[in-house]
Amino acid sequence: MPKIGFIGGGNMANSLIGGLINASYSAPDIIIAEPDEDRRQALNEEFKACTTENNSDTLQCDIIILAVKPQLLKTVCSELASKLNKLDSSPLFISIAAGVKSTDINRWLNVKNDDGASAIVRCMPNTPSLLQCGASGLFANDQVSDTQKKSAEDIMQAVGIVIWVETEDQLNAVTAVSGSGPAYFFLMMEAMQQAGERLGLSEEVSKQLVLQTALGASRMAIESDHSPAELRQMVTSRGGTTEQAILSFQNADYLQIVRDALQAANDRSISLADELGSD
Ligand SMILES: NC(=O)c1ccc[n+]([C@@H]2O[C@H](COP(=O)([O-])OP(=O)(O)OC[C@H]3O[C@@H](n4cnc5c(N)ncnc54)[C@H](OP(=O)(O)O)[C@@H]3O)[C@@H](O)[C@H]2O)c1
Repeated sequence: MPKIGFIGGGNMANSLIGGLINASYSAPDIIIAEPDEDRRQALNEEFKACTTENNSDTLQCDIIILAVKPQLLKTVCSELASKLNKLDSSPLFISIAAGVKSTDINRWLNVKNDDGASAIVRCMPNTPSLLQCGASGLFANDQVSDTQKKSAEDIMQAVGIVIWVETEDQLNAVTAVSGSGPAYFFLMMEAMQQAGERLGLSEEVSKQLVLQTALGASRMAIESDHSPAELRQMVTSRGGTTEQAILSFQNADYLQIVRDALQAANDRSISLADELGSD
């Protein structure tokens, strides 16, 4: 089993470590570098993993997961750079920081091996990963071996499903679909709850009905052999109530509204990556 280091012991790291230990990874093979002493102690107590305040202690690991806020990634990588070049073999880096390109991470790590490059997997997870039902898009640069790809996949599968993309640019689309996606469904739930209240239901009753309907529809879409479009048609009887609601959505050009929203998220993901990697 590879030795895994985490830089940053916050929410996502917690979730990943919990998932890995559930999936039978051995806690002593996990090292977590985290500046906050209380958090280190909590991580120690919860997972019995090794903790340290020194990020470079993770350099003894086969895989290092960069789990700090995107704005901190440059500092963290630049600090590792000098020690990284003294190692016989360089670890695999998995970055879960939203928006930071692998070319920028590579530049900050500044590795001086024959390739002049580090093996980097960039990952875009989403918030349901915190409940181990996330969706992550992964991209590997040319230095990542097949064995390292498999290890990265196993790690991210501890918190949900994993999809590989062929080009790094596609992570912008992943960000627009699944990275930001939970918020679109929350918005729909919010709108439906409010509409139910306007129709005379109490706040609590409307909320319960909406949330259970969202769960049920999602499970049907995942578990059924039919596509979401087919499932929609199957519950839309001619002359019925659902048909009237769907017609109302279509008259407001619902599909175009969703297309525009995802395009806006995709475009913002591109401009954020440029801002984060600008120096
Ligand atoms: N949460 C999500 O669902 C989600 C989804 C997609 C992507 N991500 C990405 O995952 C990454 C982590 O997110 P998160 O929600 O886990 O954030 P978080 O809870 O703030 O965790 C980051 C951790 O890094 C620690 N840290 C700060 N400076 C550090 C340093 N120099 N060296 C080592 N550790 C340091 C922080 O400690 P202090 O609090 O003491 O500063 C904190 O414990 C982010 O880049 C984010 O973009 C998260």
